[in-house]
Amino acid sequence: MDKIPDERAPRPRFRGRRVLMPLAATLAAVAATVAVTSAANAGTTLGASAAEKGRYYGAAVPAFKLSDSQFATIVNREFNQLTPENEMKWDATEPQQGRFSYSGGDQIVAHAQSHGMIVRGHTLLWYQQQPGWAQSLSGTALRNAAINHVTQVATHYRGKIYAWDVVNEAFADGGSGGRRDSNLQRTGNDWIEAAFRAARAADPGAKLCYNDYNTDGINAKSTGIYNMVRDFKSRGVPIDCVGFQSHLGTSVPSDYQANLQRFADLGVDVQITELDITQGSNQANAYAQVTRACLAISRCTGITVWGVRDSDSWRGNDNPLLFDRSGNKKAAYTSVLNALNSGTPIPTTPPPTTPPPTTPPPTTPPPTTPPPTGDGCSASVSLNSWNGGFVATVKVTAGSSALRGWTVRVTLPSGTAVTNTWSAQASGSSGTVDFRNVDYNGQVGAGASTEFGFQGTGASPSGTPTCTAS
Ligand code: XIL
Repeated sequence: MDKIPDERAPRPRFRGRRVLMPLAATLAAVAATVAVTSAANAGTTLGASAAEKGRYYGAAVPAFKLSDSQFATIVNREFNQLTPENEMKWDATEPQQGRFSYSGGDQIVAHAQSHGMIVRGHTLLWYQQQPGWAQSLSGTALRNAAINHVTQVATHYRGKIYAWDVVNEAFADGGSGGRRDSNLQRTGNDWIEAAFRAARAADPGAKLCYNDYNTDGINAKSTGIYNMVRDFKSRGVPIDCVGFQSHLGTSVPSDYQANLQRFADLGVDVQITELDITQGSNQANAYAQVTRACLAISRCTGITVWGVRDSDSWRGNDNPLLFDRSGNKKAAYTSVLNALNSGTPIPTTPPPTTPPPTTPPPTTPPPTTPPPTGDGCSASVSLNSWNGGFVATVKVTAGSSALRGWTVRVTLPSGTAVTNTWSAQASGSSGTVDFRNVDYNGQVGAGASTEFGFQGTGASPSGTPTCTAS
């Protein structure tokens, strides 16, 4: 198979901390090129072809197979995104409480980075593949352990992850449209939003996704998730994307695209995250349908297949992947490539990326009476708390003159500790803590506001903080 030289088939290269801007810029550049050269430059690999359409095409890989040369040859040639198949799950990354192990995940990240591929992080919290110690925890101990896990792992990979599956498979199958019972769910319904806030605080540059299966059409489960995403968006819980695993049987639901579209219309990206489709007479066609559905939606940023060769699949004898057991391209492969090449590029605008908010919006409605103004500014706090921890969002409002800097003083109850701060610099972690503006949010126009936040363990702060202009 001939290979398009690099300069004609640019592949997204995402390195370092600022993942989102290079993504947008690269995709815009790629798309602009495509707009002029169009079909003449049809890609000859999945990754190159998807990149020409402003998307990625990826695969789930286990670290140990990267040393299998047949496997690595296909991966390096075809894909521009990798997902660790198991290496970033809770049992792998925190086998003992507080002792983290990143070797497998690091290996996949290094491989991806050295081949110009982006990484989807999978997954921070899930009811399955939990280490034994977490399985035996409950209540506050589990909630705090879970949030700590999110914080530690997302911090370790900060700047290296395009999108995190922050929470995986939290909704029940069947008609209820509600949450699945699990030890995590039993810590309180707000465990998902607490996880998203902790992930945002730890890695503000990563897109934060909710990921699930049996969500491939408009059904009770996908509608339950849809309602959660809508609620999160309305309350400012930081969510950027929804992953549709798409472990499919022999056909694709007729409302597959419509379902993706309704999520995109909520203002989140959508991604096909674990695609595999049972082998049969419709396999190639079904793969093309999924590809076309993604390409038809500007906020569908990419597709990931869950494995490379049929022998790599977690689905036993379903032979649901794009390469056969000998590493040959299947009809399904050609079908995907053709669909990618004939799909609509995103020619003029890159897929709208949600810029990582520098500060999460308030979680509770602003107070109806204006907070007292002190020395030229005032501060009000909104809290998202659970038994044993909290996330505080603080709104800083300038008085009648513009601010050049500000300091907000918060008094914490004894036993409370700040574990994370964003968009401010904290003077300490307990007792009376001063939060000073950072470089980019010190200047606030007269009457205007900015926000910062912090996360803590223990009882949440009460009382109105003081604000001092500087
Ligand atoms: C699977 C892996 O492919 C297997 O190797 C592992 O034994 C079990 O998990 N949904 C998910 C993935 O989100 O993490 C699962 O991966 C497949 C189903």
